[in-house]
Amino acid sequence: MGLIDTKEMFKKAYESGYSIGAFNISNLEQLQGVLKGAKAKNSSVIIQASKSAVKYAGPSTLVNMVKTASDEIGVDVALHLDHGPDLQAVKDCIDAGFTSVMIDGSHFDFEENIKVTKEVVDYAHARNVVVEAELGVLAGTEDEISSDVHKYTDPDEAAEFVKRTGVDSLAIAIGTSHGAFKFKGEAKLRFDILEEVQKKLPGFPIVLHGASAVDQNIVAMCNEFGGNIAGASGVPVDMLRKASSMAVCKINMDTDLRLAMTGAVRKYLTENPKEFDPRKYIGAGRDAIQSVVESKIDTVLGSANSTL
Ligand code: G3H
Ligand code: 13P
Ligand code: ZN
Repeated sequence: MGLIDTKEMFKKAYESGYSIGAFNISNLEQLQGVLKGAKAKNSSVIIQASKSAVKYAGPSTLVNMVKTASDEIGVDVALHLDHGPDLQAVKDCIDAGFTSVMIDGSHFDFEENIKVTKEVVDYAHARNVVVEAELGVLAGTEDEISSDVHKYTDPDEAAEFVKRTGVDSLAIAIGTSHGAFKFKGEAKLRFDILEEVQKKLPGFPIVLHGASAVDQNIVAMCNEFGGNIAGASGVPVDMLRKASSMAVCKINMDTDLRLAMTGAVRKYLTENPKEFDPRKYIGAGRDAIQSVVESKIDTVLGSANSTL
């Protein structure tokens, strides 16, 4: 067992109409929760870390922790940099041992996005590392960059972008957004854009960011035990499953794991006021993450029994 890239995972996912879950982590217990969930369902899985998560954990610590946990838990895993802001951030992760990187040039204009993405593709491919890029802008905040409105991906531009950059997968904007407050009114995704992109790029893996479902029971648990999270909403599970049966091969989820861990830790500490062993309360958070991952595999991704 160990680190692999996403090529074979995506090929199989595309052909069979499911998606691989890409889960954000920044510590040991989140990592173990995700890998144990994937192992229990015999599912392929991607572990991803943002630039700030890499800084928090340390790039080499992260790589070695993921390698060792993959071996101990018994599941192959791709280790991916999420929303890499520039070539330097990408280089740092590739040099540390990441097997997949994202360069997020979505806030640049089309030509500049192509230029920065192409530089990353050249560096990464020379080292057998795969690259995800992004075209279109998700509303909300992506790391330090924020936008009030969606800029939906143009399918013609997507086809040209892939051809000119040689990128391995592409994140597109169809109405999802990052964080726990996704839709003010009714949830709506532009499946027409996804279909058009799929027609213009047959067989090419598409990535969906901002894909947490924001389970209201988990939000209620956070609030019942001292939290104050009001008006949270996510992407309906049936829409995510539909996307994963189409060209979407990678579905990014961070918020749902954060909510699950926070709710479980709050509940544990409230119910056990005398306890001060971190293994107990963080362990409760780890178990909650495992159960969210198992449920995602069954209801959103459709990736059970997909290991290579
Ligand atoms: O897409 C962004 C991820 O949710 C990462 O967030 O920068 O707080 O680690 P972060
Ligand atoms: P969520 O905030 O919906 O979990 O999205 C995470 C994401 O897209 C990470 O890149
Ligand atoms: Zn994202």
